[in-house]
Amino acid sequence: MTEPLLVTGGTGTIGRRVVPLLRGAGRDVRVLSRHGGADSAGVVNVIGDTRRGAGLDAAFEGTATVLHLAGGPKGDDVAARHVVDAALRAGTRHLVLISVTGAGEVPIGYVRAKDEAERIVRDSGVPFTILRAAQLHELLLPVAVKLSAMRLVPHYVRLEPVDGAAVAARLAELTLGAPAGRVADIVGPETLTFAELVAQYDAARGQRRRRIGIPVPGSLGRAYRDGANLARGSVDRAGGTWREFVTRAVTAEVALPHARSIVQPPPSGAAPF
Ligand SMILES: NC(=O)c1ccc[n+]([C@@H]2O[C@H](COP(=O)([O-])OP(=O)(O)OC[C@H]3O[C@@H](n4cnc5c(N)ncnc54)[C@H](OP(=O)(O)O)[C@@H]3O)[C@@H](O)[C@H]2O)c1
Repeated sequence: MTEPLLVTGGTGTIGRRVVPLLRGAGRDVRVLSRHGGADSAGVVNVIGDTRRGAGLDAAFEGTATVLHLAGGPKGDDVAARHVVDAALRAGTRHLVLISVTGAGEVPIGYVRAKDEAERIVRDSGVPFTILRAAQLHELLLPVAVKLSAMRLVPHYVRLEPVDGAAVAARLAELTLGAPAGRVADIVGPETLTFAELVAQYDAARGQRRRRIGIPVPGSLGRAYRDGANLARGSVDRAGGTWREFVTRAVTAEVALPHARSIVQPPPSGAAPF
């Protein structure tokens, strides 16, 4: 029997897709989250909090590989420090970190924290792999739904929406492999403006509307105009298109993990793009 893989945030949008792939590869999985989840064959849930550093030593015990997905709008840098400290205590042999495209380039707290989390992992001495991903289709759908109801759309903002299944497959492959350092960013096959994103959602619903582009002000606007949020260097363009996703979504073929957020604003401070 091999030791289990630890997946922090394994109950989330991405984690829920990765865990079955790791199981499919014959590995036992321990999932850490604050609220827990239902155990199943080969999957054991444990409670812990990466931001507070609670429950980590017990979760890390007897594991050699950790996929760190747990994250939120705030504190991913603090969480990374706790995760790295626990990894050092436990003698972790491979720490896989998910980050976001444009980390370090976009003046938003969430993105800055991701950049700092990368640095903490890079400098930790723990053998690591870092994958930067673009915004998932599932994350952008509630935003498109909201914007679709308005006459306005952010101007000059381009995104590379990516299929969650493709990101999960890449993460599973990396977790099952050897430490690889920073690997090619994973993004979707197309770069779309927000206006195109919303227009494709409208079209999938059989609608067509004219919208007014509103520039994003200040340094954030400049960063978006410069494409600072986009993948750079080595890039893996994977998975299906946004148009395919929204077409399935409007015909209810896509299970929406966060359907509630279609009608409710994201938590304050959340800045997903
Ligand atoms: N979704 C995207 O488009 C995207 C793109 C690039 C990178 N990422 C990154 O990928 C990671 C996963 O994203 P996701 O979309 O799957 O997020 P998600 O759906 O919000 O899930 C977050 C997961 O982390 C757990 N979690 C959150 N805070 C925690 C804490 N302090 N301690 C322990 N567990 C915690 C959550 O469970 P509990 O609430 O029960 O704790 C849940 O399992 C995040 O780091 C995110 O920044 C996401």
